[in-house]
Amino acid sequence: MTDILAPSFIPLEIDSLAAADGRIVVFSEGGERMDKGARRINRLTRGALARLTQSADFAKAKVGDAMEMAWPTGMAAEAVQVVKIDRKMGLADARKVGGAIGKAARGKDVLVLAGALRHTPEIALGAMLRAYDFTDHKTPGDEPSRTGSLTFAVTNAEVLKAQEADLTAVAEGVFFARDLVNEPANVLTTSEFAARLEALEALGLQVEVLDEPALEKLGMRALLGVGQGSESPSKVVVMQWMGGKKGDAPLALVGKGVVFDTGGISIKPAAGMEDMTMDMGGAGTVAGVMKTLALRRAPANVVGLVGLVENMPDGRAQRPGDVVRTMKGDTVEVINTDAEGRLVLADVLWYAQDRFKPAGIVDLATLTGAIVIGLGHQNAGVFANDDAFCKAFLKAAEHEDEGAWRMPLGAGYAEQLKSRVADVKNVGGRPGGSVTAAEFLKRFVKDDMPWIHLDIAGVALRAEDTPLAPKGATGWFVRSLDRLVRDGYQD
Ligand code: BES
Ligand code: MN
Ligand code: ZN
Repeated sequence: MTDILAPSFIPLEIDSLAAADGRIVVFSEGGERMDKGARRINRLTRGALARLTQSADFAKAKVGDAMEMAWPTGMAAEAVQVVKIDRKMGLADARKVGGAIGKAARGKDVLVLAGALRHTPEIALGAMLRAYDFTDHKTPGDEPSRTGSLTFAVTNAEVLKAQEADLTAVAEGVFFARDLVNEPANVLTTSEFAARLEALEALGLQVEVLDEPALEKLGMRALLGVGQGSESPSKVVVMQWMGGKKGDAPLALVGKGVVFDTGGISIKPAAGMEDMTMDMGGAGTVAGVMKTLALRRAPANVVGLVGLVENMPDGRAQRPGDVVRTMKGDTVEVINTDAEGRLVLADVLWYAQDRFKPAGIVDLATLTGAIVIGLGHQNAGVFANDDAFCKAFLKAAEHEDEGAWRMPLGAGYAEQLKSRVADVKNVGGRPGGSVTAAEFLKRFVKDDMPWIHLDIAGVALRAEDTPLAPKGATGWFVRSLDRLVRDGYQD
């Protein structure tokens, strides 16, 4: 578990700056202009700050880039971090500015001289998100424990204080998703995953865990087939946040939770297989959103359902060529046991609609390697059967700067899924692999149900640092979905 570096907001006290220890952050657009806090730092350092902000290097720096004055003369602080801003910057740049602060914080006390700068809440969020570090499995060494603080000296402390709880609720949800995705599969078994979701009950969520006998009874043979080669029992976890009007149809979020994907009997090559610990990324995002909604007591009805399975080769494992019956009643020929996510989602999607009659449904899955080939690591694939719903989601994703790109659907693609022996087969060949996967899911979405499928295979885990996350799990779409709820589903 990574602890949140929750921000506090205080009025600026110029006279205490000389004696402040830890790190101090000042903002500059470059050039001569300085706000009150920066002017004081400049005076204390006898002009060093002005030399930095007026340097050619700082002129070349981009918004969110930072330079450091270490152990500055005339101050108790161990560093003054100067972060490049643009007073007219948008929300995404503001979060990147925060990211520079969070990245450099490293457990120290940080005092940010934000003054009257707009978008300070987004800067604070960026700092929180970037200060994430997954160290649960590192043996502690000599490094100091991470007890730092994050304080913003501002002109409107009271206004910003009122937003603190909502900001940390978002960061908590993102961190929860990242922790789940980063966790290795020997730790995050299906049972451990379910237990971590049950623990969310403490926040007021209603959480149910359906075990194998219950899933058998519901007829979820497609989901159960995927997990039958594993020692870890398959589970479906249902999380309900009913903070909205009684009786209003909820928004449903459905997540693929394959805690490890070996490919099964259609086994994957060894190189890179370790990344398949992240194949529960869809379920992780759903869990993260539910946590955020509960923490900020959202006045909305949202249900989150995740299918938790492990895809292993074994004497009892599902074989290529097996035919399974879904909860819906359709039979599926399993051509390739590595196309398992869609089998899991088919049953959970059907169950979500059958039980909750939702107003709309969004599923998230690390579903296809093909989406990584098509869109790389900057955008997730977005598939939808409803233009208005899709537009609302894309707007939320744009607001949060979480890359999302709409992809097509179409009857011609569904043709590729025709089976000789069953109603449908689980793969449609290499051409348009992400689209045929989406078409497979669409079969399990009722006709008038607004539905979005998000293929997050390329974005859930990143090999490189990003402005708001160190390498590893990103928590992609926790923020966008929370935003979608705020903008469209709250009373
Ligand atoms: N979990 C994988 C997809 C994946 C690939 C996620 C890379 C993250 C990074 C999925 O279950 C899978 O194996 N898909 C196959 C489908 C194929 C057999 C039709 C794929 O994409 O190769
Ligand atoms: Mn697979
Ligand atoms: Zn998979």
